Amino acid sequence: MLKNKLALITGVSSGIGKCLLLRLLKEGCLVYGVVKNQDRKEVLWAELSSSLTNEELQRVVLFVCDLRNTSEIESLADAMHKENLHPDLLLLNAGVGFYGPHEELSAKHIAELSAVNFTAPLLLTNRFLRDIKNNRGHILFISSVTASKTNNTHGCAYGATKAGISNFAKSLFEEVRKYGVRVTVLAPDMTQTDLYRNASFCAANDADASLTPEEVADYALFALTAREGLNLTELTMQPQLHRLERIKKL
Ligand SMILES: NC(=O)c1ccc[n+]([C@@H]2O[C@H](COP(=O)([O-])OP(=O)(O)OC[C@H]3O[C@@H](n4cnc5c(N)ncnc54)[C@H](OP(=O)(O)O)[C@@H]3O)[C@@H](O)[C@H]2O)c1
Repeated sequence: MLKNKLALITGVSSGIGKCLLLRLLKEGCLVYGVVKNQDRKEVLWAELSSSLTNEELQRVVLFVCDLRNTSEIESLADAMHKENLHPDLLLLNAGVGFYGPHEELSAKHIAELSAVNFTAPLLLTNRFLRDIKNNRGHILFISSVTASKTNNTHGCAYGATKAGISNFAKSLFEEVRKYGVRVTVLAPDMTQTDLYRNASFCAANDADASLTPEEVADYALFALTAREGLNLTELTMQPQLHRLERIKKL
């Protein structure tokens, strides 16, 4: 069903985004992955080169684009259009997490949360929506379970960016559904990735207390491969247990 579809995915250097890239390659897609900088590109390319078949590797292109930077996002869209590349699938996955009492977040971190988690997906949707409409394509947003909560203690700003993106996605579906475009919000809870590298907590070391990035990618694929005419608008994924662990700072 997804064979030969052109997918643009943000945040493919690690975690959920890397699993999405690998899953879409297995499905036969041509995958354009966005990475933040040249170093990340080189590390990921070396890893893919040693793990993928030659045929799979020929279907991957990595673009460097720092999503904090509007002009880099514009350049990415211009470069793809100049090459006549018009995505069928837009997977807006990249995100950052900064947590703590709100007064302790720096201005830089608040700006980064807004830019990467909220502004960049809106800009990318803006630049690629005509393509997605022409291709009767699919846009999938990786939001968060925090989007629908109002008790995101020590994560108020993060949760607000995710609430914004979930709200945007659901209204966008209403705007574009008549063009055959599908829009999905996938809202995972604690997932075993590096997202909590800046936090003082992580999921407890218990399989029932967190999701794996592979599981999140599986449900993204479930939405992307639903029959035409059926839109999975919002999927929430939670582990059975809510159990966090404190990370001791050295
Ligand atoms: N892990 C969870 O518990 C969880 C739960 C709910 C939702 N989510 C969401 O899932 C998505 C993926 O996160 P993850 O859990 O897989 O964490 P992750 O491993 O930290 O992945 C985040 C990805 O976003 C990229 N990114 C961050 N800033 C960027 C920038 N300025 N420009 C370009 N790329 C940038 C990162 O690239 P670099 O590594 O190069 O910075 C990385 O590839 C995020 O939207 C996150 O909010 C995660």
